[in-house]
Amino acid sequence: MATVRLDQKRHALVRAVPDSFGSALANFFGAGPSDVESARQTHKDYCAALEENGVKVTTIPTDEDYPDCIFVEDQAVIIDGHVLLPILGAPSRRGEQQPVADAIIDKLSGYKVCKMTPPAQMDGGDLLRFGDLFFVGRSSRTNDAGIAELRDLLDHLGYELRIVDIPDNALHLTSLASTPTDTILLAPKGYLEQSIFGELPDGGEIIWIPEAEAYGCNTLGLPNGKVLVADGYPTVVAELESRGLEVVSIDMAQIRAADGSLTCLSLFL
Ligand code: GLY
Repeated sequence: MATVRLDQKRHALVRAVPDSFGSALANFFGAGPSDVESARQTHKDYCAALEENGVKVTTIPTDEDYPDCIFVEDQAVIIDGHVLLPILGAPSRRGEQQPVADAIIDKLSGYKVCKMTPPAQMDGGDLLRFGDLFFVGRSSRTNDAGIAELRDLLDHLGYELRIVDIPDNALHLTSLASTPTDTILLAPKGYLEQSIFGELPDGGEIIWIPEAEAYGCNTLGLPNGKVLVADGYPTVVAELESRGLEVVSIDMAQIRAADGSLTCLSLFL
């Protein structure tokens, strides 16, 4: 999940792949999944990679009525003991939320939970944490009213929020960018202007990746310092390894086919 620091990544929620996954929304990187069993294998590899690298995984049962339900990142924003339940930008995905909210409440008793109110809309995939700085994508899924509600929470917690306009050919901010560590941001040339993130705090670095490897910019930093990456993005791997980071890669083809990336598959508590 993109809203926790590396040292907070100890426990992740994931959701099992439904048979209906072939009907998942796919309008950007993907043309629709064609092999649900392969997607299940990827999901298994993903959970194993999390567990082997220091993350406890809790799996929420799937729901055949919601082909996109594996993308739990979108369903909640969890920041330092506060939980914001957004109103998803895609109406077909709103019914996925209750079991995710129930799982969070079950694991995090004592956390403060708030729900967004209309007309606010936001997908958790539009939020990216870079240490103590947050970026939110203004996208086809996240509107200004949703950003205003998020800003209220971040103001309360004392964090800065910057808005990144997401181009029409991309789904979420985290479809294009990730923070494999608390001081490195990966983003693709072409999709985003190089000034879009503003001046970074001391010690922060943006690594700009060629446009052809845009999908590979979504990586997942693990609490032991390794980084999970999608197979097939050599520049991403080379840039991370040249900074001393060890990479663990998995085949994401069938998840990409549903416009999903590594971070979309988990929600860190
Ligand atoms: N298929 C993921 C989404 O569109 O939300």
